[in-house]
Amino acid sequence: MSIRILVLGGGGREHAIVKALARSPQSPELFCAPGNPGIAADATCLPDLDPVDPAAVTARAAALEIDLVAVGPEAPLVAGVVDALEEAGIAAFGPSGEAARLEGSKSYAKEAMADAGVPTGGYAVVTDRESALAEVAKAGCPIVLKADGLAAGKGVLICMDETEAGEAIEVFFTEQRFGQTEVVVEEFLEGEELSLLAICDGERAIPLAPAQDYKRIGEGDTGPNTGGMGSYSPVQTVSPGRLKELSAAVHQPIVDLMARRGHPFRGVLYAGLMMTTDGPKVLEYNTRFGDPETQAVLPRLESDLVDLFLAASIPGGLSEKEVSFSEQFAVTVVLTSAGYPASSSKGDVITGLEEAAGSAEVVHAGTAEEHGRIVTAGGRVLNLTGLGPDAATARDRAYDAADAVKFDGKQMRRDIAERAVRRERDQEQ
Ligand code: AMP
Ligand code: GLY
Repeated sequence: MSIRILVLGGGGREHAIVKALARSPQSPELFCAPGNPGIAADATCLPDLDPVDPAAVTARAAALEIDLVAVGPEAPLVAGVVDALEEAGIAAFGPSGEAARLEGSKSYAKEAMADAGVPTGGYAVVTDRESALAEVAKAGCPIVLKADGLAAGKGVLICMDETEAGEAIEVFFTEQRFGQTEVVVEEFLEGEELSLLAICDGERAIPLAPAQDYKRIGEGDTGPNTGGMGSYSPVQTVSPGRLKELSAAVHQPIVDLMARRGHPFRGVLYAGLMMTTDGPKVLEYNTRFGDPETQAVLPRLESDLVDLFLAASIPGGLSEKEVSFSEQFAVTVVLTSAGYPASSSKGDVITGLEEAAGSAEVVHAGTAEEHGRIVTAGGRVLNLTGLGPDAATARDRAYDAADAVKFDGKQMRRDIAERAVRRERDQEQ
């Protein structure tokens, strides 16, 4: 009987994970909660199962005789879904609730980085308006203020001057937009950002291929932050040797620290890095696959993802494993609905999906099925990943697919992977 795997989540990242699992030579039987209409091609979707409810997930996994649960988003991790599954004797890919605090609490992450000797920006934690004002006056601007808890990428306010810092302090402490929260006041860092993901078994971290994502809505990195407008992999400036060095500096010390603390880190540890003139510094940790980095990274994976998930769910299980990636380049373009990121539109009919599949991997992020038609159902609607021998070809394939897809209010950035294409041209000259 083939192995039965339940993936939790229903966005583009989870569709990319399901597609990668479906490519496994082990032919796994796949389930996904809640899933989406794209995921339904490769997995049985469980739209009525709430992935953030530990008891419900455990009961359904037991009833379906699931061998392994792989968690996509952060909320189920922080809610303790992995702890509940392990208590019930069901293997899980993902960290415990305690280990997921590396993402769930920015102050916990900063303290862990200091303890583990990971390079990061200077910081202070403040709990009220007066100490925030004093800290900003002491450190000077530009400065960055971050809500302590999960805020779907919206809790980070970058303040270029005193006026912006003053407004940010009101947002956190007077308006309390993020509830009653501790605030991390952090040194402003400049440089190119890099997403470095590693797969971890509680003892060892193995880096995955490096990626970059595009967070701002507008071309040239302008406008408000979003859940991600595109990504690409690999990043030419990070050679295999450099990748090992970086991972030894930002992943392994945290895995070692969490093991010492009695909360071994299993799953994906994602380090968001700023490559400053002073060397790489960690901006944040996520305790899961990045979205939309995963959509560019996993299509390049040559290793068996089922095997890696199983190995990582056992202490020390990755010790004999290698992870290999193809030489291909991957570029992911995100299509969003009208109004995103402030709002999103639902129910617009999507056409051109078959034509798009001729040039790229089509991943569903926010879609629904209505009367046999695929319609928009969220801010980020579809992700198109082009693959090719070089960045320019992969980029062109992604945009061919993105242009083939049609729906009212479709938005995209036209400059995804432009940096990689430019680097490629510079190398040729
Ligand atoms: P985070 O959720 O902490 O990764 O922050 C979201 C985004 O805010 C990052 O991807 C950066 O673009 C930006 N950011 C966060 N911290 C800093 C910092 N210390 N200096 C400059 N930009 C930052
Ligand atoms: N791409 C950023 C994130 O997944 O948090």
